[in-house]
Amino acid sequence: MARKVKVGIIGAGRGGSSIYKTLRGIEHVEIAVVCDKSLDAPGIKMAQADGIYTCQTIAEFCQTDGLDLMIEATGVKEVQAEIEQLKLPSTSVMEAKSANLMMHVIEEKEKLSEMKRLKGELDAILNSVQEAIEVAGNDGTIKYVNPSFTRVTGLSATQRIGQNIFEVSPNGALARALRTHDQIFAHRSRVGGSEAEVISNASPIAVEGRMEGAVVVFQPLTDIYKLMEQLQASNQVIDDLQTRINQISTSAYTFDDIIGSHPEFEKALDLARKASRSNSTVLITGESGTGKELFAHAIHSASQRWDKPFIKVNCAAIPETLLESEFFGYEKGAFTGAGKTKLGKMELAHGGTIFLDEIGDMNLYLQAKLLRVVQDMEFERVGGTQTIKVNVRVIAATNRNLREMVKKGDFREDLYYRLNVVELHLPPLRKHKEDIPAYAQSLIVKFNRKFGKKVAGLSAQAEQLLMNYTWPGNVRELQNVMERAMVTVEEDMITNRHILNLVDTPISKLGREFEELIPLDEMEKRMIRIALNRYGESVEGKKKAAQALNISLATLYNKLKTLR
Ligand SMILES: Nc1ncnc2c1ncn2[C@@H]1O[C@H](COP(=O)(O)OP(=O)(O)OP(=O)(O)O)[C@@H](O)[C@H]1O
Ligand SMILES: [Mg+2]
Repeated sequence: MARKVKVGIIGAGRGGSSIYKTLRGIEHVEIAVVCDKSLDAPGIKMAQADGIYTCQTIAEFCQTDGLDLMIEATGVKEVQAEIEQLKLPSTSVMEAKSANLMMHVIEEKEKLSEMKRLKGELDAILNSVQEAIEVAGNDGTIKYVNPSFTRVTGLSATQRIGQNIFEVSPNGALARALRTHDQIFAHRSRVGGSEAEVISNASPIAVEGRMEGAVVVFQPLTDIYKLMEQLQASNQVIDDLQTRINQISTSAYTFDDIIGSHPEFEKALDLARKASRSNSTVLITGESGTGKELFAHAIHSASQRWDKPFIKVNCAAIPETLLESEFFGYEKGAFTGAGKTKLGKMELAHGGTIFLDEIGDMNLYLQAKLLRVVQDMEFERVGGTQTIKVNVRVIAATNRNLREMVKKGDFREDLYYRLNVVELHLPPLRKHKEDIPAYAQSLIVKFNRKFGKKVAGLSAQAEQLLMNYTWPGNVRELQNVMERAMVTVEEDMITNRHILNLVDTPISKLGREFEELIPLDEMEKRMIRIALNRYGESVEGKKKAAQALNISLATLYNKLKTLR
């Protein structure tokens, strides 16, 4: 390290102390002594506080060892003369005037290095940002571009700097900001001289209230495109899911799946075909197992809405408290647990068909709400205020006598008439027994496939047996009977043997069996068997079986456990 310049200051008033302050901050300078005849002089105080030697006489000042430079800041002629006499020849003397000038130079240099430091910092920032930056003066001359500018546009700094923005990018945000003296946001343009499409923000640069130019910050559209592509991909996933939901809920059966050609049955079929061509509300009535749901599907499939959702709501299976939100959906936060907005069946069915199964089991409060939907096709989500409009075709079904329910006040009359625009009554199987062989044959084909069997058909006697039965459970019961027969059959014909124990005891024969007297638990077993044959083994079926036997569902389950 270079040796420090040893300096002494004489005169610690205003001039001397300001010199003292400047020199104190310079690395290569060592202030060895500060002298003033008054110990109260501000420079003396400072020096003392800094632990620097001070004195009061010129003689003492001049005796300081090895001073390279004395700064004379008293401005007093006599002092100057005395110093000249007493100082060592090797020590130079500088007057306050020259010293001040020197201080000025030093300060400027300091400022310059501070600015260099700031510029260094600024450069580091501008070089590291991902956004492209370009600066131009008031006349449009481009003064600066950062490395991202080159990355985005392919134009180097040397190519760009010095050009005029009004010539190279007259429609860009930077030129606009210069022209309008205003900020420009989200401006989309092409960078002049390059292919890059960008989104920019530009702003005037003001120095002490005067506009000195403008700066633009921009990003290539490709980066934004990438984000948009990602968004599109996500939207695609949503669309696909939507389509799949539609496929899943879209109706599975058509009129081709419906068997039956008896005139009684044909009437119903004709009416259903006609109804499928209109948008009218259809009320399908008929005993359990007569094909109400099948018909609802077929009507939808044959309608113009066939490729839109078919949404089924089982009004009997949903707890009353949930029915409303099932139907109309709910808004986020509508109640505890409503974490996000959920679409109701009504909204899901938009464009398609809603099938209101077991409509006779819906409570009066919801009937009122449903009436409004059926009439105006609008509703609000639970906890929501926005009115939602939908276009939905309504098909309702029930095995209850709605007309009777209306009379008793259990079903709203206005809703009944709304739903009953087309009443499609499906005849019980016993009214079109002639169709039984056709049903049986199609079931044999179906179960052959299911069980891997090769049954050819029914024996004449077996067919007769089926024809003689009253089928209170209608086609569903026939399906169950045939399925059991097909499980047990080992030959290629279904005969009485496979059906006999299955059809069990037609009600008409009960009398004779009573005469024969059988154990009560055996009787119970048979009755349960009959009920399950009739209604099927599904939960729904068991519910109905329990109802028919006048026991609770729980009791039925218990009996099934012990009786099996
Ligand atoms: N005409 C028919 N042709 C073919 N299959 C039928 C016919 N009618 C009913 N089925 C079949 O019988 C079963 C019962 O029909 P579906 O579920 O439509 O009856 P439902 O009237 O809705 O009965 P429930 O009132 O008990 O709900 C279904 O598997 C259905 O496919
Ligand atoms: Mg049904």
